[in-house]
Amino acid sequence: MRLSDCHNFHDFRKLAQRRLPGPIFNYIDGGADDEVTLRRNTGAFDDCDLVPNILRGVSDVDLSVTVLGQKLALPVYLSPTALQRLFHHDGERATAAAAETFGTMFGCSSLGTVSMEELARKHSNPQVYQFYFHKDRGLNRAMMQKAKESGIKVMMLTVDSITGGNRERDLRTGFSIPFRLTLGGMLQFAVKPAWGINYLTHEKFSLPQLDAHIDMKGDTLTIGRYFTEMLDPSMTWDDVALMVSEWGGQFCLKGVMSAEDARRAAGIGCNGIVLSNHGGRQLDGSRTGFDQLDEIVQAVGDRIDVMMDGGIQRGTHVLKALSLGAKAVGLGRFYLFALAAAGRPGIERALGQLKAELVRDMRLMGARSVADLGRDNLRFRT
Ligand SMILES: Cc1cc2nc3c(=O)[nH]c(=O)nc-3n(C[C@H](O)[C@H](O)[C@H](O)COP(=O)(O)O)c2cc1C
Repeated sequence: MRLSDCHNFHDFRKLAQRRLPGPIFNYIDGGADDEVTLRRNTGAFDDCDLVPNILRGVSDVDLSVTVLGQKLALPVYLSPTALQRLFHHDGERATAAAAETFGTMFGCSSLGTVSMEELARKHSNPQVYQFYFHKDRGLNRAMMQKAKESGIKVMMLTVDSITGGNRERDLRTGFSIPFRLTLGGMLQFAVKPAWGINYLTHEKFSLPQLDAHIDMKGDTLTIGRYFTEMLDPSMTWDDVALMVSEWGGQFCLKGVMSAEDARRAAGIGCNGIVLSNHGGRQLDGSRTGFDQLDEIVQAVGDRIDVMMDGGIQRGTHVLKALSLGAKAVGLGRFYLFALAAAGRPGIERALGQLKAELVRDMRLMGARSVADLGRDNLRFRT
């Protein structure tokens, strides 16, 4: 199987599975507990049908949107994800470059494997810095300062990971950083020698966003312990309000799910929120961003930018979310599997296919621009 055989999400996933050692593939692919929310993320779109309009003169289709003060050529952005150089040796470098090719925004995770400064220096497309809130307030301030000095315009605080999710696939394989593989996990690495050679012959793995402030080297701190020991479960709205004013630029909360929280986010000056359950990797049994979208757009859509992520595999999924009032939609595994399959060319192929799908689907919907989409275009099955 090659890149040219990949025509949709499932093909990229299959190719990624062939290339990656099992523990790494399962780290990307898996979710929390019984993975109910993970499955529902994509399943939710099937409970809703598109109602097209006809004869609207759709030769030109404009896919651009403005979100968090950034003009994007596509209504999708690449959501921040951790550890990308484990998936492909180019990691975030491939992701940022592919996003730039398509004129869209990408996220750099606090657990990213390339420094946000390097990415900001090399690329002119908007970058989001994804932040986790630490117990050490001085550390939070230093990290924000660094992001500001790098020229990053959008701060995205993830609030659904106050503690790590229970990912049982990772427990079985022993996936953690640093690696603590089970015997079975080691065998799964042994049968993918090409990945191992690539990993060992490229730049040494590191977490530059954290390395500058925390000793992540050796065996001192695993990522699991980073979540439980360094992040602050006592964080409250007052802490975030202070952070919003200290940042002084575009500020977005990722992981909001209730209308009440959405109102509070607007009230403390956030510019946007992402309805997200972290790709089904945190609280299993929680609702999906798409299922919550209508209620939250009704509550705060006229005050702040509402975005969603989770389960997006098709152009029609994106159109359904935009029709309900999402300003843009985040992609996670959609681009991660493409990255693992073939690096930057993989992501560019996946985004090219999604863009073609979006243009075709907009034409079939009778929509010339995202503004033409609305709730009238949807019917929910009961
Ligand atoms: C492998 C992996 C790593 C992730 N790492 C982070 C992270 O570091 N910070 C964060 O806010 N979200 C992280 N996420 C969540 C994504 O940003 C996004 O919310 C989610 O992947 C969307 O669901 P989808 O994968 O079904 O598209 C991660 C997701 C995956 C699959």
